[in-house]
Amino acid sequence: MKRSTLKSRLGAALLAVCTSLAMSTPVMAVDAEAAQMLARQSSCFKCHSIDKKKDGPPYREVAAKYRGRSDAEDKLYLHVTSGPMVKFRDGSEDNHKIIETKDAAEIKNLIGWILSL
Ligand code: HEC
Repeated sequence: MKRSTLKSRLGAALLAVCTSLAMSTPVMAVDAEAAQMLARQSSCFKCHSIDKKKDGPPYREVAAKYRGRSDAEDKLYLHVTSGPMVKFRDGSEDNHKIIETKDAAEIKNLIGWILSL
């Protein structure tokens, strides 16, 4: 009897910790579906795919390149919002596509998804 009370108390405490952790870090959860929808809307998949080389690098390659780098999110945020000059496979250069939303949370979600691949 005593034992099971302790167990359930521990369980409740753990649950409380998990719940508060989940609520205090909503940005950690990536919504993969929303990310891909935004990428589709912005024609990102015209030049990128998850793991095949097109005009741009596969997103999995981008994730590998930035793995473990604390500046990854900032770098990519700037990349998709500022339209820097990029080189295409045929050697030509042009401004990179600017993402078609101004919603920072949506953009961060897409970047988080790319980095999670
Ligand atoms: C017209 C083709 C094209 C489109 C459309 C395009 N990209 Fe790119 N993207 C490129 C190319 C080419 C590179 C490689 C740039 C380089 O390494 O110089 C690149 C690189 C990237 C990178 C890696 C940047 C880095 O620092 O390594 C990310 C992330 C990215 N694109 C995201 C996106 C997103 C998100 C969209 C949609 C809003 C998009 N791209 C649309 C061609 C495109």
